This record gives sequence, C-alpha cells and structure tokens, in this order.
Amino acid sequence: MFSFTQLTLPLIQAPMAGGITTPQLVAAVANHGGVGSFGFAYSTPEKIHTDLVAAQSLTSGPINANFFVFSPVSLPSDQTQVNALHALRSLSVDGVKTLTIPAEPFYPNLIEQLEPVWKARPAILSFHFGLPPDGVIKKAHSLGIAVGISATNLAEALAIELAHADFIVAQGIEAGGHRGQFDWQANDEALSALDLTAQLAKHCRIPIVAAGGIMNGAHIQNALAKGAQAAQMGTAFLCCDESGTPPSYRHYLLHKQDRPTTLTKAFSGRQARGLENTFTRAMRDKPCLPFPIQNTLTGPLRQWAVVQNDAEYQSLWAGMAYAQVRSMSTAALLQKLHDEIDATKQM
Ligand SMILES: Cc1cc2nc3c(=O)[nH]c(=O)nc-3n(C[C@H](O)[C@H](O)[C@H](O)COP(=O)(O)O)c2cc1C
Repeated sequence: MFSFTQLTLPLIQAPMAGGITTPQLVAAVANHGGVGSFGFAYSTPEKIHTDLVAAQSLTSGPINANFFVFSPVSLPSDQTQVNALHALRSLSVDGVKTLTIPAEPFYPNLIEQLEPVWKARPAILSFHFGLPPDGVIKKAHSLGIAVGISATNLAEALAIELAHADFIVAQGIEAGGHRGQFDWQANDEALSALDLTAQLAKHCRIPIVAAGGIMNGAHIQNALAKGAQAAQMGTAFLCCDESGTPPSYRHYLLHKQDRPTTLTKAFSGRQARGLENTFTRAMRDKPCLPFPIQNTLTGPLRQWAVVQNDAEYQSLWAGMAYAQVRSMSTAALLQKLHDEIDATKQM
C-alpha cells in the first residue's frame, strides 16, 4: 500500500479536471519522486482506462485517480432556467449562441467511472466534494489502493478519518479550482492552507496533505513544518510543458499577472477560484443553475473560447499565488523543488 515515506519529493501534483492532467504530466511527476494525479471528474470510463494505461506504460511510480462526489441535483423552476440562460446570452458573444438547458443525466455515474480504476489499480484513489459511496473505500483497500479525500474544515476531516480513508487533503482558501466543501451551501470557514493543516494535524491521526498557494520548495517546507506529510500543488504545474493547459490560459497566467483571482460559481454552479476575466465580472451576482448543470450549460461557451484563443470566456482556474508559476518541463520543475527544499534545510 502507498505510503508518503516512499516519495523522494513530498509532493502530489494536484488532480486537475478538464484535460490538464495528461498521461505525460502524471508520469513525469511519478518518475521524479512525487505522486502524479489525474482529474477524472467528468471523464468517461473509456477515457479513464486509456489515460491510466498510457501513464502506466510511462512510469511505475505512484499514480492518483481523482473523482468528484456529485450530489443528486434536479433542474430548478422554468423561470430560474430562463434567467440563467438569459444571463449568459446577455454576454453577447458568438460563443453563447448554441447554449441550451442540459438534460439528464447531469453527471457521470461514479460506480461506472471506478471500473477501470479497479482494473488498473493505481496507487491512490482520491475524492473531492465529500465521501464516496459505501463500500468504495473498503474495495480500494482490498485491492491495495490508498484513499485520499479533500477537506476544507475540521468537521469534514473528522468524517474522512471515520470513513477509514488513508489521508486528508487540507484545502486552503488560496487553492485554485473548486472549493472541496462537502456541502456547498454551508458556511465556508475559508481557512488558509497552513492554518487548516496545523489544525488538522493536531486533531487527526491520518496523514495531512496541505493544498493551496504552494508554489516552491520553501512553501513545501512551511507546510511540512505545520504537520503535513506532503503538499498538493496544482497551479504550479499549469505551465509545465507536459500539461494540457490551453495556450491562451497559459498566456494569462504568465503575462497578465496584475489580475486578481476570484471565487466564482458562474462557470459550474459551485465556488471555484480562478483569474478574474470578462466572464467572471459580467456574471457576478447573476443567476446560475446548480452544480454541475451550470458546468454543462457553459461547456460550449468555454470550448468556443479555447478555440478562439479568447481567455476572457474560459475558466482560468488558478490559486492566489499563480504569479509564481514557472514555465518549464515537469522534470526541471521537480528538480528545482528538490533544490529549493535542500536550500531551506541548509538555512
Ligand atoms: C486547474 C485546476 C483544476 C483543479 N481540478 C481539481 C480536481 O479535478 N479535483 C480535485 O480534487 N482538485 C482540483 N483542483 C484543486 C487542487 O486539488 C488543489 O486543491 C489546488 O490546486 C491547490 O492550490 P494551488 O492551485 O494554489 O496549488 C484543481 C485546481 C486547479 C488549479
């Protein structure tokens, strides 16, 4: 079974759904001492199988397959649907012309998505937005697969421990991408990654992995000093050669660094952190459909924006510290992180 002590770098490259975590990125991290993760939230079982097999042909290092735990959802009233569609159409860009209200099923079947995981047996299986259905953690353990689950506060962390998961990802408010809260309507304590890590390390017995705003070796060391066993880093990998980040998204991360990040639910229906752009500004306080129906609704607009090379209408998920992102090969980034950790140890 996977253990953090087997890593030469105390690092999980964060799962990032939406085509960013290519087999090449995942394998490069696993080959250089960390854990490489796939974000399979919206992927079909066929795609999950293909990606796992491709990565396993490139590495024998630890791979993490990550999924969302979707909650049952239904369409709101006709009037709310009209309002949500109207809010998007009022953006008046070509990309909104084809938008239509999505039909069921509103999200993939997790049990079907897990089938290729049971066959490929990656080292780790992880979940965002809550606990997986009954029996999943037990089944993972019976196949020698360790399980990690995101938490944004102590109550969620204690529930994860009680469910017999193997580690907790302590997601701070700085983190890029979706807030991993179990209940998106609950009050968000909005703790920083370091404060949350320190709190969880004090009250939980299983390993804690700090996530949010960790961009270099000194940041990793700070997380370890607060009691983490490793750091989970997403934004830091967005500009690596092997990642699937679209060119216009990369360009903004590297060259539009005066932009603040913002939490928005306008893309997906749930709060997620990314660079502010025309879309997030225009949609602030506008009606939207529940998660993930809004994500499906805005999908064609986001894909249109990628094809147009127009980052103003893409979801540019990124953490608060994105200005420290580095553009280089994954191997070079991991070597730098190694060197930076060594340098902080000598200080
Ligand atoms: C582009 C992007 C996509 C993400 N997608 C996922 C995901 O699919 N599953 C998940 O558990 N976390 C996801 N996250 C959150 C990360 O797991 C992690 O909490 C975050 O990247 C840490 O903050 P950082 O981006 O400042 O490093 C995503 C983050 C980013 C930046």
